[in-house]
Amino acid sequence: MTTIKTNLTKELLVKLEKHLQDFSYGDSPKELYEPITYIMSLGGKRIRPLLTLLAYSLYKKDYENALTPAMAVEVFHNFTLMHDDIMDEAPLRRGQTTVHEKWDTNTAILSGDVMLVKAYEILAEVPADKLGDCLSLFNKTAREVCEGQQRDMNFESLDEVTEAEYLEMIRQKTAVLLGFALQFGAILAGASKKDSQYLYDFGVNIGIGFQLKDDLLDVYADQDKFGKQVGGDIIANKKTFLLIKAKELANGEDKKQLEDWLSKTNFDKEEKVKEVRALYDKLGIKDIAENKMTAYFDLGFAQLNDLNISNKEMLTALKVLTQNLIDREQ
Ligand code: IPE
Ligand code: IPE
Ligand code: MG
Ligand code: MG
Ligand code: MG
Repeated sequence: MTTIKTNLTKELLVKLEKHLQDFSYGDSPKELYEPITYIMSLGGKRIRPLLTLLAYSLYKKDYENALTPAMAVEVFHNFTLMHDDIMDEAPLRRGQTTVHEKWDTNTAILSGDVMLVKAYEILAEVPADKLGDCLSLFNKTAREVCEGQQRDMNFESLDEVTEAEYLEMIRQKTAVLLGFALQFGAILAGASKKDSQYLYDFGVNIGIGFQLKDDLLDVYADQDKFGKQVGGDIIANKKTFLLIKAKELANGEDKKQLEDWLSKTNFDKEEKVKEVRALYDKLGIKDIAENKMTAYFDLGFAQLNDLNISNKEMLTALKVLTQNLIDREQ
C-alpha cells in the first residue's frame, strides 16, 4: 500500500496484522477453511478494523483489548467480498484469483457462510455489559449490507435509477459498515451516546465517499495497482454514480451510443469498457464524481468537530487515515 500513515496508525496496523495472522479459523474439512485463510491473507487496506481501533483509542489507551473485536469487522467484510465476487462475476481480488474462480462457487458460498458465523463468534467475545448494544448494531448493519447488495443487483437490469436511489444503495452496501466499525470502537471504549452516534454518522458519510471513489477507480484505476478487474462495473451495467450522471448528461449521438452499449448482450468486454469510458470523458463525468465524493468526505470531516475528545493526536490519526482514502489507488 502506498498511502502515508501516521506512526500511530502504522503501529495499530502492525498489531492488527499479527493478530489476524495468529488466528485460526479451523482446518477440517480443508475445502471449507482454506479459502478463508486465502482471502484473509491477501491483505487489503484493513480500513474497517483500523477505524474500530482508532475510534476506541480516541477514548482509551489499551487498544490491545479492541484487537479481537476489530478482527470481527474485518472477517465480516471479507465474507461480503467473497459473496460479492460471486455476484459480480469478478475474476480478481487484491491482485489474486477470486475464491469462486480458484475453487468453485459452492466453495465460496459455504466458506463465506462460515466466515459470517466466525464474525459473530469473535464479536460475542466483547465484555458482557457491551454485548447487547454491539450485537443489535451489528445485526442492523449486516441486514442493511444485504439489502444494499440486493438493490445493487436489482439496479443492473433497471433502466432508470435515480441519484437518490444510488446513494441509498451505497449507504447500505458499503457506508453503514464503516459507520459500524467506528461506533463499535466507541461503544467498547465507553464513549458517550452522543459521541458514538457522531462517529457513526462520520463513518456513513466517509463511507459514501469511499464507495464513490471505488466506483471511480473501477473505471479509471491503473490495472497494476488496483488489484481488481478495471471496468468490471461497465461490463455488468452497474448503475454507478458515473453511469447515472452520464445518462443524465448525454444527448444525441452520445446518448444513443451509451444506450446501445447498455443494451448489448454480445460484446467484446475490452471494447465496451474503452468506449463507455470515452463517453464518460467526453461528458466530464470524472470531475463530477470526484466533486460528489469530496463533498461527502467534507461532510464527514465537519462532523468530527462535534466530538468531545481530549486525545487530539488520535483524532489527527483518524483524519489522516480518512484523508488518504480520497487519493487511494486501490
Ligand atoms: C471493497 O472494500 C468493497 C467496497 C466496499 C468498495 P475495500 O476497498 O476496503 O477492500 P480491501 O479490504 O481494501 O481489499
Ligand atoms: C461491494 O461493492 C460492497 C460489498 C462488498 C458489500 P463493489 O462490488 O463495488 O465492491 P468491489 O469493487 O467488488 O470491491
Ligand atoms: Mg464487486
Ligand atoms: Mg458488488
Ligand atoms: Mg467496486
